[in-house]
Parts: sequence; C-alpha cells; structure tokens
Amino acid sequence: MYKIAVIGGDGTGPEVVKEGLKVLEVASHKLGFKYETVDYDWGGERYLRTGEVLPESAIDEMKKYDAIYLGAIGHPDVKPGILEKGILLYLRFGLDQYINLRPVKLYPGVETPLKDKGPADIDYVVVRENTEGLYVGAGGTLKKGTPDEVAIQESINTRKGVERCIRYAFECARKRNKDKKVTLCGKTNVLTYAFDLWERAFYEVAKEYPDITPDYAHVDATTMWMVKNPEWFDVIVTDNLFGDIITDLGAMTQGGMGISAGGNINPEGVSMFEPIGGSAPKYTGMNVINPLAAIGAMQMMLETLGETKAAELVDKAIAYATGEKLKSMAAGKMGYSTTEVGDLVAQFVADA
Ligand code: IPM
Ligand code: MN
Repeated sequence: MYKIAVIGGDGTGPEVVKEGLKVLEVASHKLGFKYETVDYDWGGERYLRTGEVLPESAIDEMKKYDAIYLGAIGHPDVKPGILEKGILLYLRFGLDQYINLRPVKLYPGVETPLKDKGPADIDYVVVRENTEGLYVGAGGTLKKGTPDEVAIQESINTRKGVERCIRYAFECARKRNKDKKVTLCGKTNVLTYAFDLWERAFYEVAKEYPDITPDYAHVDATTMWMVKNPEWFDVIVTDNLFGDIITDLGAMTQGGMGISAGGNINPEGVSMFEPIGGSAPKYTGMNVINPLAAIGAMQMMLETLGETKAAELVDKAIAYATGEKLKSMAAGKMGYSTTEVGDLVAQFVADA
C-alpha cells in the first residue's frame, strides 16, 4: 500500500493533479497495486488566509509518505520568492531530494521548434543537483540601498553532494542503456573552484563505470548543442542553477511546459514529482491547461516506486495522446479540454 501526499498547490495545479490521479487510479486497478492519498492545502491561498507558508511539522509529516505529488506553487498576489523558497525549495532541501531529474523527451506528434529533429533525436535526461550550489542562500548584503551596496551570493558545492549526484547520473545512464554516456555540464574555464571539484569527482566516479563514456561540455556550449545536436546527449549532469536554466530550454525543445515533467528525488527517502511549468494563474478553472506534464510526473512517480509496468503503460498512453489525439500541447489549443486529455490517457491504460 503506497501512501501518497498530494499538494495540488496554486492556480492550475489542482486541475492537472486531478488528471494525474485519474490515471493513477486506472493504473492501480489494471496492475493490481494499492495506494492511498492524503491532500494538503499548501500554497498561496493558504498563505494569504493564515500568514503561514508551511506548518512547522511539514517535513516530518512528509517523511511518512512513499511519495509526494505536487501540482504547482506560485500565486499572483504573493510576492515572488515567498512561496518558491518557503514551500518548493524548503521541501526539496528538507527532504534532501538531492536529484532533480528532468527528462527531455520529444513524444510522437509533438511539435518541436528544432528544425529537422524528431523523437529519435530528442531523448535525454538532465540530472540537476537539487540541494546545493547558488540555491542554498549563502551570502549577504552590506550597506543595502546605498551607493556602496555590496551583494554576495555564493555557490556551495560539497564533495559529498557533488559525488552522489554524479553517481546517480552514471547509474541512470546504465539503466537507460541508450548511448551509455554522461555529459558533465559545467564551466571549468571560469568557475575554477566549484567546477574543479565537479570535474575531479566526475572523472573519479567515471572510473567505477567503465561501460559508460564520460563527456564534458561547458554550460554555454551545452545550450548550443541542445538546440543544434540534441541527439548527442544521453544523460547530462550539472549543478543546481545551470540545471534550472538548461531544463527550461530542454522543455521548450520537447514541446513546452505542457508536457515537461520532473522528479525531486531522494533515492534513500521521499521523492516529490511535479510538472515543471508554473501555476499558470490566467488559465485557472477554465479546463484548458494541458495535464500531460502532470501525468508525466505521475509516470515518473510510478517508475520510482518500482511500478515499472504501470510506468511503461502510462508512458505509452502519453505517446498515444500526443501521437494520435492532441492537436497542440498549448493550453486551449489541444483540441480537448484538460479533463478530456486525462480521460484519453486513462482510457488507453484501462484498455491496454
Ligand atoms: C524549477 C523552478 C524553481 C527553481 C523556482 C520556482 C524556485 O524554476 O523548479 O525549476 O528555480 O528550481
Ligand atoms: Mn526552473
């Protein structure tokens, strides 16, 4: 019996999560696993009502679950940073979800802005370090608001944090069994402290994986190849900020935020799965948002829970929806409503 915490969150979050749960229910009947869900009202509305971003007990509470399913965090009436830091980053850090796994996969029938590229060319994963780097909030300001103001923001990279992330990337390449290649995306020519550590750890770990080819690209060059030669990539491993930036680029090449999913993974603990787009407040309650990213996040959750068959089936169902049904991945242009897309995927799973 899996225990799943559901945080619908803000804007269109709850709507897309509902479709993911619809698919989960059908998959559980089909493949005979059991689960229960508990809803949490964490997000912008709760914050505006109570003044509290998260209850004190949030981390301990979440540790009771096998997985967390998250819709979206972000509210137009809340100052930027409060909910992102107070909920999303707080959970990632507090639960030590040290991997942010973001597949960049072009499903059949999905339009990519990359000329002459198809599903065979765009199929790799980004392993983003998720608990360190510039995201830890190390630094400070001096003489704020004066002409002499100083702002310092430091990137924290620990040998342990870097190494476990790199090792995860190598394991991932082995499991994918595709090109058997891991590319370290860094900036060794300028960030000579941080990426010196990354580079040394990378080639040391690589020695433990003689079946995998280690490869290196600077982050600026990485963005070039992601557009020009995405087929060169199998697994990319990188730090928190570079990973944040390149995965938005990756998401655009795979058809946009409507289809891009990610997992905040603690391989030894509780992981959290989310569509990587935001709360899209302007589409709230209109039944037009694309739920496939959230369904993809559910697919990743099944994979991580070890429900491999269910994960494969949901993946096929997404490919069926994109390949044979949806006209576009964009909100309001799919040719179907949010709930209808959920129905299409769920029906495919039921009929399989
Ligand atoms: C993401 C988001 C977050 C991040 C923000 C909302 C804090 O952009 O999940 O990529 O920067 O990690
Ligand atoms: Mn981001």
